[in-house]
Formats: sequence, structure tokens, C-alpha cells
Amino acid sequence: MSNAVLAVQPIAQALDIHPVAGRIGAEIRGIKLSGGLDAATVEAIQQALVQYKVIFFREQAHLDDQSQEAFAHLLGEPIAHPTVPVRDGTRFLMELDGTRGQRANSWHTDVTFVDAYPKASILRSVLAPKSGGDTVWANTSSAYNDLSIELRALADTLWAVHSNEYDYAARKPDVSLEKLEEYRQVFTSTVYETEHPVVRVHPVSGEKTLLLGHFVKRLKGYSLADSAQLFNLLQGYVTRLENTVRWRWSTGDVAIWDNRATQHYAVDDYGTQERIVRRVTLKGDVPVGVQGQRSQTIKGL
Ligand SMILES: [Fe+2]
Repeated sequence: MSNAVLAVQPIAQALDIHPVAGRIGAEIRGIKLSGGLDAATVEAIQQALVQYKVIFFREQAHLDDQSQEAFAHLLGEPIAHPTVPVRDGTRFLMELDGTRGQRANSWHTDVTFVDAYPKASILRSVLAPKSGGDTVWANTSSAYNDLSIELRALADTLWAVHSNEYDYAARKPDVSLEKLEEYRQVFTSTVYETEHPVVRVHPVSGEKTLLLGHFVKRLKGYSLADSAQLFNLLQGYVTRLENTVRWRWSTGDVAIWDNRATQHYAVDDYGTQERIVRRVTLKGDVPVGVQGQRSQTIKGL
């Protein structure tokens, strides 16, 4: 094979990539994540992230909060959550502890209640339960492609109002009401509302993606009843099993997802076992719809 041919191969080919599911997810082997990775490796990780939408790295137990943040800096600009305080001693890191009621067992994209929501999240397992506690991701681009031409044309015109004020209690069976209420009060200390196009054009790949998930309150211009039916119709394509990948966590695993092209769901089946993950999110840009219109935060700024 000539050098000319080698030169046009994608950089991501240099990584040891093992796809997990057919349409989303890949494990990358042979890399020790840190703030000291070289530029070519970082670029290859960025490309793999856009291509596979969620990438997994096993055996990264050497990472601590500081080196997780340092690694995050290589992939983008870390940002703190708009309402949840960062973990002590860190600048951007958020801890999710199942025993404190932080169980994200409903389908969502992170922080879509603001306009420029994160482009990616980097999640590290600090303590994985012996059984259960998997996370599932869905490919919102293949979901869009699964729609009929007529449904795509409808979806292309829809706008949704996303808010951080939603029904928590209905979704978390293994946690006391007091803990739920405590978390809800922090999470909604400022109430945000943002209008997003239901179809977002991915700023890097150009793919069309369905932008929905549990922060959606209603569709603009539709009654609550019609909003719910249309939402369920489109969201059902996102969560079809063919569009998903499920990860069985071991302590020390790291998952990074493209938050512009995915939704995820943390399966709440681990009862009273401990489950701790720590997350750093990276600054994103304001979504653009198929006609070039941009998302807008209408409340909370
Ligand atoms: Fe999440």
C-alpha cells in the first residue's frame, strides 16, 4: 500500500477500536487517559466520538478528579452544571451517587434546558455495583433516519420547550421522598426554559438528530395532549433497541458520549447497592435546526 493511500485514511484508524453495538458505541483499547495525551491521539478520540457517539475505555482507575478534569480540558472547555454544585475540590466535576437519589433512569440528553447545552460528557465509574446499574445510550441520528419521509418532514418543522422543572418522583422507586425533594430543590434552584428545534443538525457531522428526552415539557403550538402523542411517537424511534448500546460498568471504566447525537438512561435496578459516577461536561454550541434557526433560552438567564 502506498504512502498516498495511508495519508487519506481517517486518523481514527490509528486507535484500537472495537464497536459494541451495530449502530452506536465502541470500546477503545490501549489508551491510558490523562491530561498529557498527545494531540494526534486527542484528535483521533474526537473523531471516534463523533463517529461512534459513545466511546468506552476500560481500566482507567488511575484517574482521580483532577486528572479527569485535565483530560476533559484536552477535548473541550469543561463547564459546571447550571444548578448542581460542583464536587468539593474540583472546578467542574459533578458526582452522581445512587444512594443519594441521583438515579437518572429516564431517557434524556444532558442539560437540554439551556440553549448551548454540553457537546459531550465524560463519565467515570468510581464505584460500580456488583450487578445492575448499567447505562444505555441511544443514537438520535439513526433514530431520525428510521422515520418515514413524511414523519421527517413533520419533525423538521417542530420545536420543543425544554425545562429542568419536571416530575422526579414518578421515576425513582428506590429512594426516599425526602432525598428526592432535596435533590429537586437544588436541581431547580433556577428554572430554565429553552426552545429547541426537534431536529438538530450536528455541527461536525452534518447529521440530522432528534433532540428530545425527558426535559421536554411540550411542543410549541400544540396542546399538551397532542404534544405528548407526538413526543411519544418520535421518542419511540430514539429508544428502539436497534438504536441503543448498553454498558456493563466496572469500577474505573470511562464513557464519553457525544451529547449532541445521543440520549442516555441509567438503569435503576441495583437496589441499595452503592453506585458512584463522576461527570465532567464540555461546553457546547447553540443548536441549529434544518432551516438554520437557532435554539433560544426564554427563561432562566
Ligand atoms: Fe445524564
